[in-house]
Amino acid sequence: MTNILPLTLVAPSAIERLLDAAFGVDRHARTAYRLRAGVDWIADLSFAALAGDVLVGSVQCWPIALTTPGGETVPLTLLGPVAVDPARQHAGIGQRLTRAAIAAIRAHAAPPPLLIGDPEYYGRFGFVAAPTAGWDLPGPFEPHRLLLLPTPGRVLPTAGMVGPRVTMPGFASGVRMA
Ligand SMILES: CC(C)(COP(=O)(O)OP(=O)(O)OC[C@H]1O[C@@H](n2cnc3c(N)ncnc32)[C@H](O)[C@@H]1OP(=O)(O)O)[C@@H](O)C(=O)NCCC(=O)NCCS
Repeated sequence: MTNILPLTLVAPSAIERLLDAAFGVDRHARTAYRLRAGVDWIADLSFAALAGDVLVGSVQCWPIALTTPGGETVPLTLLGPVAVDPARQHAGIGQRLTRAAIAAIRAHAAPPPLLIGDPEYYGRFGFVAAPTAGWDLPGPFEPHRLLLLPTPGRVLPTAGMVGPRVTMPGFASGVRMA
């Protein structure tokens, strides 16, 4: 049986091994890594899939922001990477992890989730590329893979650059705790 539990229960070295297995050891060159440079994953929004005490999947969420041409900063939550042990893929673990992260983002009233991923996979959770059509990233990306999960009733800016959300010491992290 596979349980979805807080990622804080898992040793950092085990997470790194899983990410290497799922994405390859050259994964650090991806543009997604530039989005979260210098920030830590958010403990309340990140989850592990554990089969017994073996890590077979993970999802991490990070504080990021869209900065508009006018200088407005709009907080967002980077959802991902979602990683499943290659030997355990196509068994629903990725969907359970993604749904757990989305539920936690909503429960904590965290900023809207953004990710870089396949619309064929993430569309089932409600992620769409249309709202991000005018957004830019600090590295190469395919616009149809920059996906936002819209918050009903909330309209986000149509243009801007996405990057890490670095908070000053003493200021709130952007995640409202229950
Ligand atoms: C992508 C990934 C997270 C999916 O997790 P998973 O546990 O293997 O997948 P699930 O069992 O939850 O879902 C299986 C379904 O997703 C589909 N699917 C899996 N990966 C897909 C992809 N990249 N694009 C489109 N569909 C995909 C399967 O075809 C299957 O479809 P179905 O439900 O219609 O039969 C996992 O395969 C993985 O870690 N891949 C390598 C790393 C990666 O690419 N991560 C995503 C980017 S952040």
